[in-house]
Amino acid sequence: MNESANAVELHGVVKKFGDVIAVNSIDLVIADGEFFSLLGPSGCGKTTILRMIAGFEFPTAGHLAVDGQKMGLTPPDQRPVNTVFQNYALFPHMTVLENVMFGLLMKKVPKDEARETAKKVLDQVRLGALGERKSSQLSGGQQQRVALARALVNKPKVLLLDEPLGALDLKLRQEMQSELKSLHTEVGITFVYVTHDQEEALTMSDRIGVMSEGNLLQVDTPDRIYEHPTKRFVADFIGEINMLAATVADDGTVQLGSEQIKLDGPSPEMGQSFTLAIRPESIDLTGPDQGVELGLNQISGTVTHRTYFGDAYSYDVETGGGVLSVRCDNRPDHQRFNEGDAVKVSWRPDSSSVLKD
Ligand SMILES: Nc1ncnc2c1ncn2[C@@H]1O[C@H](COP(=O)(O)OP(=O)(O)OP(=O)(O)O)[C@@H](O)[C@H]1O
Ligand SMILES: [Mg+2]
Repeated sequence: MNESANAVELHGVVKKFGDVIAVNSIDLVIADGEFFSLLGPSGCGKTTILRMIAGFEFPTAGHLAVDGQKMGLTPPDQRPVNTVFQNYALFPHMTVLENVMFGLLMKKVPKDEARETAKKVLDQVRLGALGERKSSQLSGGQQQRVALARALVNKPKVLLLDEPLGALDLKLRQEMQSELKSLHTEVGITFVYVTHDQEEALTMSDRIGVMSEGNLLQVDTPDRIYEHPTKRFVADFIGEINMLAATVADDGTVQLGSEQIKLDGPSPEMGQSFTLAIRPESIDLTGPDQGVELGLNQISGTVTHRTYFGDAYSYDVETGGGVLSVRCDNRPDHQRFNEGDAVKVSWRPDSSSVLKD
């Protein structure tokens, strides 16, 4: 065991299957104890990365380390990791307790000790009362907990989870999300979690790596990923966002269509075009005569469309900089606008992001 090591390190890791580049030269460091999620659409290479960490596949180029040890060709059973898959692969004829004890018995742990350890882990996943039940007689959520217990009982340094909640319905999935998060805090080991569900990644993770077509595009905290995406793909994949063409004029002013706006932080170089990204809920909508605080961006427009969502209204506003989607909470003091109304839209310069590709 290596106290100060990173949990997982990937250095220039490539994985090819014939002509298919499943993973394209990835560098990534996951800290000890982190809840790290790999997020991306189907086929982007998430499972392939997990399988290389677990030792079921080996990199075509580059190398990876787990708990400070270079893995090379180390087989799966000699790595300090365990995997929880989407299909739980439980033994249906065994009881819950036997399923969890199984791995320990295979490692020649004495039966009494294995039983005590398994019981403790079953308590951790809130299945203490169901130890004698056959695993075939469990609900989906309960089976998922057994699968977790089976992985945790081996005390891995790193737990790999491949879309573990994918088979559950929405409500159960949300419950399990908060349970997984508490479990992570309780057991204190590193979780590497694979999902294509943005909400799952945002709610549970310490950091998220967003992937597309084998590439790791951005690695950041959930709020940075959501509020300050650096690439078009990341902005578009997570939630709704306005993306508008902008340019930096030769005198350094920033033009959004016919409107001049302010950015926060370093601007792109003069003469460059870029994409301005801003979330609908980061934009305020006011009457045409209302002034705003100094320092905000404010441009005039006309409401072209309004959609009611119950808890919010969404407006499309046509402006000199393009059409902006604006989301306003439906609070009692919300001033409602109608299609055709003249309005002003405003936003803080630091709530927009500059995307270059
Ligand atoms: N054993 C294999 N042989 C050939 N191609 C493979 C193999 N495993 C994966 N691939 C290909 O590698 C790419 C990445 O696959 P991977 O399973 O890592 O994607 P994923 O992000 O986990 O997708 P999903 O969300 O659908 O599970 C895909 O194009 C896939 O078809
Ligand atoms: Mg997968």
